[in-house]
This record gives sequence, C-alpha cells and structure tokens, in this order.
Amino acid sequence: MSISVAYVTYEDLDGFDDEKEIALAAWAEEGITGRIVRWDDPSVDWASFDAVVVRSVWDYVARREEFLAWARRVEAVTRLANPAAVLERNTDKTYLRDLPVPSIPTSWVEPGRDADLPVLDEYVVKPAISAGARDTIRTVDREKAGAHAALLAAEGRTAMVQPYLDMVEAEGETSLLYFGGRLSHTVRRNPMLAGGTAAPDADNARADLRTPEPDQVALAERVLAEFPGVLYARVDMVRLPDGSPALIEIELAEPYLFLRYAPDAAANLARALREWVSPA
Ligand SMILES: Nc1ncnc2c1ncn2[C@@H]1O[C@H](COP(=O)(O)OP(=O)(O)O)[C@@H](O)[C@H]1O
Ligand SMILES: [Mg+2]
Repeated sequence: MSISVAYVTYEDLDGFDDEKEIALAAWAEEGITGRIVRWDDPSVDWASFDAVVVRSVWDYVARREEFLAWARRVEAVTRLANPAAVLERNTDKTYLRDLPVPSIPTSWVEPGRDADLPVLDEYVVKPAISAGARDTIRTVDREKAGAHAALLAAEGRTAMVQPYLDMVEAEGETSLLYFGGRLSHTVRRNPMLAGGTAAPDADNARADLRTPEPDQVALAERVLAEFPGVLYARVDMVRLPDGSPALIEIELAEPYLFLRYAPDAAANLARALREWVSPA
C-alpha cells in the first residue's frame, strides 16, 4: 500500500524552492506518493495524508501565529513533521538561550527595553523571529546597531545583537543535514551578510559539499539530542575567533536541505521519512 505524504510549501511565485521535485522522486522510490501543497490552501484535506512534511513555508515569519495554529490543526488529524511544538519553539531564536551548547555570544533586547549594547568591532543585529536573514543588518557603527535593535524592539520584536564573525567569510558557514537522526550530508554555505545585508534569495545561493570536522559533528549531535524525534534538521555553525565551533541556529521548521548537492541526500530523506511514517 502506498504511503501518501504532503510536501508543504508556500505560494512560491519566484520558484525559490527548487528541491520539491528531487524530493518527490526519491519519495516515490520508497513507495511514498508525495503531493506538493501550500500550507495556507483552504481546500486541502490534511487528514487524507498519512503524514504532512513541512518544507518551504517561507512566508511564515509575518504570519507566525496563523502558521502555528495551522500546524496544531494538522497535527490533530495526522502526523506532522516536524511536530507543532518543535515548529513553535524553533521559529523563535530565544530557544538558543536554553541550549547547553556553545552558540554565538548574544545580547538580547526585549521589546520595550532600552538597547544596552556591548562594545564590539562589528555588529550583527537581527530579530529573534526571522528567516533568510530578513531585517538583519551588519554594521561597525554602534549607534546604527543600537538604532536597529531599538526599531525592532519598538515593533514588539525581540532583537539579537552579536559580534560579526568574519570566519564566515574565510571558511564559510557549515550546515550539517540530519534525517531521522542520521547525518546525511554537510555543506559549506556562502556568507549571507558579506555585502552588509542579505540578498533576498541568498539562503539558497551556492554551497559546496564538505566533509565535516569531528568537532563540528560533535556539536551538531549535542544540539540534536535536545530535539529527539525530529524528521529533519539542519545544524548551522561557524567557528569563533578561538577556532571552536559555535551554533548559529538549528533549523527545524523550514530549512533548505541542499538535496541537490549530495548524491544520496534525497534518498536519505526518503528513507528516514518512510521509517518515520511506518516504524518497523
Ligand atoms: N554573528 C554573525 N556573524 C556573521 N554572520 C552572521 C551572524 N549572524 C548571522 N549571520 C549570517 O546571516 C545569516 C542569517 O542569520 P541566521 O541567524 O541564520 O538567521 P535566519 O537564517 O533565521 O535569518 C547566517 O546564515 C549568516 O550567514
Ligand atoms: Mg539561518
């Protein structure tokens, strides 16, 4: 009996999600019939799927409550990956405060509070709820950094202030992809803030396949242990000036999975999905 799974995307007018087809072809090899559907399409009967896999829901940032309510509704009628509680926790980067692993040193500016910025050579200021480096700036100017944090806080958003880590330019940002708890592939991504702010589609820009260093795998697996049972995870990291790896974020909601970059990537996802839908 074929397994029926929804591949959940958004109104992808610009075609940024270029891995739908490769994912569905690999799912078919595992006996999974995939259907590409928009999360906000009211005509979809979510209960008709054996499972619903959140993929490129890249418009959720401005509609987060609506998106999370959708996830809870779907989870009430079928299996959802990743689970709604994971989507909720992971789409607000304040979760980074609770993880017992090294991440980029961050000053948090809460809504309605004054921005009390550390003195840094260069700043990154970003909202806690964001994707694709939206509303994220890089600047050497402390006043500009403070103003951007204050602007976000005035909009009722929590802001994050971090040192700009220029190792992202030397060795790039490393992303480890895990499917069903197993390491599938690793890519080195280009820095998104190299030009000061991000290009809108920079997240999907070129990347190279890499073999991860043991300390990178160790960090990724410590982070992953905090989120048992997820179907897919992308652990993004960079090296600190002392050379040790630090978490940028773990993407458990809608990461681009770089399926086209490694020959086995799509098959790895398909196998993990089959096991997740119907455990042996
Ligand atoms: N402190 C930092 N130093 C250097 N680059 C950063 C820093 N924070 C973010 N970036 C760059 O901006 C990108 C987006 O930031 P990230 O924290 O991953 O948020 P999101 O992907 O959710 O928008 C990262 O992939 C990285 O290239
Ligand atoms: Mg990111």
